[in-house]
Amino acid sequence: MKVLVIGGAGYIGSHVVKALLKKNHEITVFDNLSSGLRQNLFKQNTFIHGDILNPAQLDAAFERGFDAFIHLAASKAAGESMIVPEKYAVNNIIGTINILNAAMKHNCKKMVFSSSAAVFGAPQYLPIDEKHPQNPENFYGYTKLDIEHYLAWYDQIRGLKYAALRYFNAAGYDPEGELYGLEQNPANLLPVIMEVAAGMRKEMSIFGNDYDTRDGTCIRDYVHVADLADAHVKALDYISAKNESLTVNLGSETGISVTEMVEAARRITGKEIPAKYVDRRPGDPSCLYATSAYAREKLNWKAQYSDIDTLISSTWQAYQKNLGK
Ligand code: UFG
Repeated sequence: MKVLVIGGAGYIGSHVVKALLKKNHEITVFDNLSSGLRQNLFKQNTFIHGDILNPAQLDAAFERGFDAFIHLAASKAAGESMIVPEKYAVNNIIGTINILNAAMKHNCKKMVFSSSAAVFGAPQYLPIDEKHPQNPENFYGYTKLDIEHYLAWYDQIRGLKYAALRYFNAAGYDPEGELYGLEQNPANLLPVIMEVAAGMRKEMSIFGNDYDTRDGTCIRDYVHVADLADAHVKALDYISAKNESLTVNLGSETGISVTEMVEAARRITGKEIPAKYVDRRPGDPSCLYATSAYAREKLNWKAQYSDIDTLISSTWQAYQKNLGK
């Protein structure tokens, strides 16, 4: 298939492009390189340096003719979205509307969309399935939920067929070591741990050790980016074969605590990784993990690389390559 991957130079996008190329899809990446990296591009893909806030650039891109598009271009820092919601309203909501309208104009009606577990907010029960109530706790999560609603309307009115993939905590790097572009100023747990292990930061903070969990620190469902990439390929196949839309959770179904992650990183890297306990970070639910039974049933998808050792060792490998080791 000819696929336009919007945000394909980013962390998750580049892993998705790699998985699609392996299945012989013909890929064009559209990215403004605001957080994406040139080093994440493959020589086999065409690249358009464009912005989703520029409808003319999107129009010119879709004019080339695609069978499907994947939309991974978004602002994604939940904390920041509560400080500068305008950025999230514009980049995520207006950007997506621009993409949808350009795609519809050029009759490109198959889409895979990066949604998020952030659409759920604080868990009312665990594991979180697709029917769990949706009450986002931050504006970032709201933008993803809002876009899911747009997609349903575009399906009904314009015949768009989409897969909304709700990622839990994306982590890890290409197990083959080909992709190792690092995100700048990371705030997510595993990159922060790695920066300390690599000597790029002195120490890290663990946000709260008085939660009602097995060791007092927050539990999350970390899902390897290569597993997420595989789900995009399968979602595209599903939409093409069934001609129906789909919304699924993607998680490893395993909860890992912050302390467990830090301790495993010490073991795997052999580094001390100084960590101090500090106050809770506002808006953090104590425990969050998915059931991926629906993804298994519909997409025949199951996480393969999302065990704690592969998550950490693949990320450590990426950091070491950047440090020239
Ligand atoms: N944490 C620390 N210290 C740090 C960074 C994180 O203790 O320096 C803790 C957090 O408090 C939390 C856990 O590690 O308990 C994971 O935090 P992240 O910031 O890595 O991830 P979140 O669970 O907050 O959110 C992530 C993505 C969101 C996405 C969500 C889906 O950043 O975009 O997963 O589950 F919506």
